[in-house]
Amino acid sequence: RIPVIIDCDTGVDDALALLFAVRHPGIDLRAVTCVAGNTDVDGVVRNTLTVLEQAGAPGVPVARGAERPLIEPVRVARHVHGEDGMGDLGLPAPTRVPVDVDAVTLLRREILSSPRPVTLVPTAPLTNIALLLRAHPEVVRNIERIVFMGGAVETGNATPVAEFNVWHDPEAAAILLTAGVPITMYGLDVFRRVVVPGAYVRRLRASAEPALRMAGELLAHRDPAASGDPTPSGGLGDAGAVCAVVDPAGLTTAALPVEVALAPGPTRGQTVVDRRAREGEAEVHGLGRERPLVDVALGVDVERYVRLWLKAVEGI
Ligand code: BDR
Ligand code: CA
Repeated sequence: RIPVIIDCDTGVDDALALLFAVRHPGIDLRAVTCVAGNTDVDGVVRNTLTVLEQAGAPGVPVARGAERPLIEPVRVARHVHGEDGMGDLGLPAPTRVPVDVDAVTLLRREILSSPRPVTLVPTAPLTNIALLLRAHPEVVRNIERIVFMGGAVETGNATPVAEFNVWHDPEAAAILLTAGVPITMYGLDVFRRVVVPGAYVRRLRASAEPALRMAGELLAHRDPAASGDPTPSGGLGDAGAVCAVVDPAGLTTAALPVEVALAPGPTRGQTVVDRRAREGEAEVHGLGRERPLVDVALGVDVERYVRLWLKAVEGI
């Protein structure tokens, strides 16, 4: 099984990612670390513990991480994820508490003690990961790959050009991109496309199993119809990044230089993806500068990931 650690800001779609990671037989979910993003970090910890209990994985260690980005103040996304950060579904409070070490300490411990190199899956602002890489650079020797949900080749969501997770802590994202390990960027370009058709969402909501009903309600919360879009369906969001860990062939990627725009102003938090060489631009300027290559997801087999996610969470 693939050793995986998820760093999240649960988060409606982070919950869908956790549920998949717990239930997919090919994943060994070693730990979950929490960071401020969709809601404040204490809310993220509570939501994460609740989801793991509902999913039937009460033993996975959960740690509290950064309560704010490296430089900016925290800017939570309650307008997207509800007052409690997870759709205001009235889910039960968790019965346990996080481990008594912080997220960076737990990440270091679990990465270095894993018998096989770990795949790290951040589905949130990258603050914890940046702190880890700076405080404990030795962890890279036991990281197989970082598959992160964040960034956008084309249009952003937090701003016209910036995706929320990168926008919330651009300096942290810049540190991640230069980590010196293989990186997959599961950005908005593919994130937006993986949508579960309405018939399946209805099936989940009608399930006798509480965890599946929760998944159905979470998906319904992500129904674009709520914002006037006529498609009765629900986006898998962050869960798609975990699908990419077990089924990388479902993605079309290209190894491209990616940089985060850090200057103040309208482009701050944008992931600038250099597609010039790929698109046959004869004269590529500015290549004198060393820029790390990132495997950027440009396409996704939507049906394949929807089937993969459903099969794992429903256990069929
Ligand atoms: C990302 O930000 C959060 O709202 C989602 O959980 C996802 O990780 C999308 O920009
Ligand atoms: Ca998230």
